Amino acid sequence: MAVVRTEGLVKTYGATRALDDITLTFPDGGFFGLLGPSGSGKTTLLRAIAGFVIPDSGRVFIDDAPVENVPVEAREIGMVFQNYALFPNMTVAGNVGFGLEVRKVPAAERKRRVAEVLDLVQLGELGDRKPHELSGGQRQRVAMARAIVTRPRVLLLDEPLSALDKSLRVEMQIELKRIQREVGITTIFVTHDQEEALTLSDQIGILRDGRLVRHGPPREVYDNPRDPFTAQFLGEANLFSGTPEPGGLRLADGTLIPGAPTATIAVRAEDLRITLDEPAAPIRLRARLRQRIFAGAMGTCVLDWRGNPLKAIGRDQDFAGLPAQGDVWLSWDSADMIPLSEG
Ligand SMILES: Nc1ncnc2c1ncn2[C@@H]1O[C@H](COP(=O)(O)OP(=O)(O)O)[C@@H](O)[C@H]1O
Ligand SMILES: [Mg+2]
Repeated sequence: MAVVRTEGLVKTYGATRALDDITLTFPDGGFFGLLGPSGSGKTTLLRAIAGFVIPDSGRVFIDDAPVENVPVEAREIGMVFQNYALFPNMTVAGNVGFGLEVRKVPAAERKRRVAEVLDLVQLGELGDRKPHELSGGQRQRVAMARAIVTRPRVLLLDEPLSALDKSLRVEMQIELKRIQREVGITTIFVTHDQEEALTLSDQIGILRDGRLVRHGPPREVYDNPRDPFTAQFLGEANLFSGTPEPGGLRLADGTLIPGAPTATIAVRAEDLRITLDEPAAPIRLRARLRQRIFAGAMGTCVLDWRGNPLKAIGRDQDFAGLPAQGDVWLSWDSADMIPLSEG
């Protein structure tokens, strides 16, 4: 296990700043979820930690030791990438044991360690199969086993589940978390799936255009996103901006939002109430319901408020009695307003 730390990492490709001054600590034994839109620098950051990318400036430390002079293979890092390739002609056990063979681990110990790690990923019976005889989820487990069999200090996972279909992905998320807990290895996990990051991580970091916008425990970042990008990236947030007055926030259409703490606020889609009749709530807006989308347990209402799209999420009974579309009232509790900085 190890603490990984980056200090002022910068990497440019021509005019693109793939990493723009990234200073971040990945705690010992923790599960750190890195997320951000495509092209935000997630893969570049992992590759810089692994040693495949040489930063223009800044440093990487593993347990307080700088690693710039440590080659990739000596950094003791295990990796699973999105397009991990297993050796097609080797058995599962052969694939998993390959890294140990390269490291000249004696055959008897190799066999023992391969068996141990195959048990851990619940493939104990399948060591003799070839990759083409496995399902997608099973191949994924082989890739995990291969990454951890060498007992690396750090595990880097770059969107390892994105090739799997939804139900398998959810199953593998639970597996991944279990394996990481059992091995206790410092893990940095890249995903563009916010739900996946929130589910798995002890800490998350959000990248945008090579910059670290925000990091912290998932719940803390979700409850207090602080900036509009984070608010809208994690979950569904409705933003309102206006001019602060002694009585509240004056929106462009003249509506006063009493108690609004800042010039820009966010209200989570799950915190918006929709009613046909004017509510008694002190915070209320007239809006137009554009569409109701049924999606199983939870449904979505797409709304329009003076040309701004809004979204409400709730159970079917929350939206009972509403028309398919038409004028409605929106309201929310003042406790559900999230203060945001400008942006
Ligand atoms: N080898 C490279 N050559 C040129 N540009 C690159 C290279 N690697 C990454 N980039 C650019 O750096 C930015 C960040 O890329 P990447 O780290 O792959 O993002 P992410 O993994 O978040 O999708 C993107 O604009 C990408 O086009
Ligand atoms: Mg990537």
